Amino acid sequence: MLDLNSRYAYLLWCRDFAETSVLARLDDPRSAPVGFVTGYRRPDSPDTLVVWQVAVDAATRGLGVAGRMLDELVDAVPGVDHLETTITPGNDASERLFSAFAERRDAPLVTSELFSADLLGDDHEPEILHRIGPFAA
Ligand SMILES: CC(C)(COP(=O)(O)OP(=O)(O)OC[C@H]1O[C@@H](n2cnc3c(N)ncnc32)[C@H](O)[C@@H]1OP(=O)(O)O)[C@@H](O)C(=O)NCCC(=O)NCCS
Repeated sequence: MLDLNSRYAYLLWCRDFAETSVLARLDDPRSAPVGFVTGYRRPDSPDTLVVWQVAVDAATRGLGVAGRMLDELVDAVPGVDHLETTITPGNDASERLFSAFAERRDAPLVTSELFSADLLGDDHEPEILHRIGPFAA
């Protein structure tokens, strides 16, 4: 599930991580956004793009918007050949989104628990790290 962060957090993100994030609109560039990806380059591993959050408006899901955002983002960030994200167990749409991305890049996908439920607290489900890469040239 998607954790909702404060407006302040998202605005700060847009200021400092715009180059590794993307916003989707349908057709008209002035229309309301229908999806976004927030990402960053790992400071200790700059060839790895971490996708923090990806979301598509409920009315626009299943049309390939999220997959296209991932493709465009990875192609736009130079020197990246791995993608990491975490997914909570049972988020089928997210799991399929990232496994389909791995297939398109002809890249291995390895999973491991990154943060346990105990560590996250507040009845949060564990966050399972999905690491994809290296991408095929
Ligand atoms: C996850 C999410 C971003 C996917 O967005 P989307 O635009 O509908 O995804 P796409 O249309 O690009 O589909 C990507 C793949 O997932 C599959 N998929 C989409 N929804 C699915 C579902 N509910 N169950 C299973 N597979 C699903 C698609 O068929 C596609 O696979 P394919 O390439 O093999 O056909 C969207 O469901 C969402 O916003 N969920 C709520 C927020 C969330 O949980 N975000 C992730 C945690 S940060």
